Amino acid sequence: MKGIVLAGGSGTRLHPITITVSKQLLPIGDKPMIYYPLSVLMAIGIQDILVIVRSGDRGMFQSLLGDGGRLGLNISYAEQEQPRGIAEALLIGADHIGADDCALILGDNVFHGTTFARIVQREARELDGCTLFGYQVNDPHRYGVGVTDPGGRLLAIEEKPERPRSNRAITGLYLYDNEVVDIAKNIRPSARGELEITDVNNAYVRRGRAKLVELGRGFAWLDTGTPESLLQAGQYVRTLEERQGVRIACLEEMALRMGFIDAANCHALGESMAHSSYGQYVMTIARELSA
Ligand code: DAU
Repeated sequence: MKGIVLAGGSGTRLHPITITVSKQLLPIGDKPMIYYPLSVLMAIGIQDILVIVRSGDRGMFQSLLGDGGRLGLNISYAEQEQPRGIAEALLIGADHIGADDCALILGDNVFHGTTFARIVQREARELDGCTLFGYQVNDPHRYGVGVTDPGGRLLAIEEKPERPRSNRAITGLYLYDNEVVDIAKNIRPSARGELEITDVNNAYVRRGRAKLVELGRGFAWLDTGTPESLLQAGQYVRTLEERQGVRIACLEEMALRMGFIDAANCHALGESMAHSSYGQYVMTIARELSA
């Protein structure tokens, strides 16, 4: 399965911060936002990842992540000229996807839960068509909203409905089979001029090939779109990390646990950041897991 992180967009709700810096490079806790979605793809076991960024921002992402080799990944980059919609990621990424399945994740989506990795791994393994992840929220009108029958079967998704028919937001992690490229090619811009990911997902729903997986109470799906929610997400991560002494979305740890790198390499990565508590943590984990 190939991975795509969509990390473009104009981030206007975070102006002036995002005038010069891409939103997905802003800190959440002690690491850049893009670490969180990247760690989700890594947890699925994906090593081939395309990062799509805002026009002109490629250099900053490249300085941070390079070609991914030090994490045992193969990271490539593409620029999106204009934010023409999330579904455009599937067109920009068509060559990258090739003949494979694909996991698309939005660069500003933060997921957390102890069983999350197990669930996404299982769903990727059992993928048949498209798999979406639902999460109950108080403000569903801000998201794609899943409409289900009483048995929980997905009937349709409505994008930012004025009167939501449920509280179930469709999160920004999408698993697709290879048909998605053809489906995306046939989507037309919506009334707001965007290639809507919801239109892609509804094409799968109409074919009876869309599955909705509920992320229940034991999970967190955090918003990072405004200064307030960005701060809250940072506080959430910090509180958990301080309390439990474990790090969320530590890419070096994830690479080691997934067997993408060995403990010696992981330790060396930590050492290169030894002045930060993040670097110290990476070294400790490398020592613990090699023992
Ligand atoms: O976060 C989940 C929600 O994401 C879904 O529930 C909605 O169905 C989906 O449309 C989307 O809604 P948003 O209003 O959050 O989308 P937004 O325009 O904020 O874009 C989400 C991220 O994707 C953001 O970090 C910017 C990036 N993006 C967006 C567009 C439209 C791009 O990189 N390029 C784009 O063209």
